[in-house]
Amino acid sequence: MLHAQWLEFYNRRLVLCSRKRFRRVLDIGTGTGIWAIDFADEHPEACVIGVDISRIQPGWVPPNCEFQVDNLELGWTWSQPFDLIHARMLSGCFRNPGSIFKQAYDLEPGGHFEIKDVLLMPRCDDETLKHDSPLLLWASLLARAANNMGRPINLASRYQRMLVEAGFTEVHVVEGRWPTNRWAKDRKPRLFGLWSELTLGRELETISMALLTHGLHWEPEAVLVLCAFVRQEFLNPEVHAYFPVFTAFGMKPLRSPRGTSIAACDMDSVL
Ligand SMILES: C[S@@+](CC[C@H](N)C(=O)[O-])C[C@H]1O[C@@H](n2cnc3c(N)ncnc32)[C@H](O)[C@@H]1O
Repeated sequence: MLHAQWLEFYNRRLVLCSRKRFRRVLDIGTGTGIWAIDFADEHPEACVIGVDISRIQPGWVPPNCEFQVDNLELGWTWSQPFDLIHARMLSGCFRNPGSIFKQAYDLEPGGHFEIKDVLLMPRCDDETLKHDSPLLLWASLLARAANNMGRPINLASRYQRMLVEAGFTEVHVVEGRWPTNRWAKDRKPRLFGLWSELTLGRELETISMALLTHGLHWEPEAVLVLCAFVRQEFLNPEVHAYFPVFTAFGMKPLRSPRGTSIAACDMDSVL
């Protein structure tokens, strides 16, 4: 369902970078492989590889799509470079996220790396989310737990900077927001709020349990109590909270880099 949410959010675009033709594409941390399968269907000219540490992808896939099992935290061993590397929702997967950006730089010159994620730190523009809110407490506890476990979450707002640090050029970032519930009046944000209710709202316990029991040594019962309070606020349309969503992309320079620029784009200008 999250794949559908991302697709709808970006007007059915699988990537936001301006590249139009693709030969070799890698989807890292591909999960069920749904992005890779859709991308392979959309670009029959491309060879698409999805890689994940877990073998949970289907066997019935387009002929130009294949899945591989590998640990991305170990050295990458692909012998031929890619012209697009895609990464989505990999927050908290890696001990050293910077090294993933460096490995992704091993693209064809002119190739793109695009990474997107939700920042699990709610924001609010009208003070209906109070400073002592369970939702904010929950988000900061998750961040602390993830740090204790050595796998930081909430890096999405830093992705454009990390792209620059890895050597990418023509770096762009597109920032959006997913309301926590149906509080928004306009059709599109309201739709995404409904979606959040169904995805993040339903998965609160799943998202929280491993992090809080391992990272902060909470008892499972305490996690369930916290989640009950969080859900109440999460679903309360009087609370106008949203999760920031970031997509950042950059290009490996065709020649040796001469300095780079960061551009923040308005979502409408990219879509
Ligand atoms: C939240 S899922 C995202 C799935 C997919 N990118 C999507 O957007 O639908 C994160 C995925 O990263 C994979 N993953 C985590 N650590 C990994 C690693 N070290 N190497 C390869 N895959 C990893 C997990 O197995 C999981 O499938």
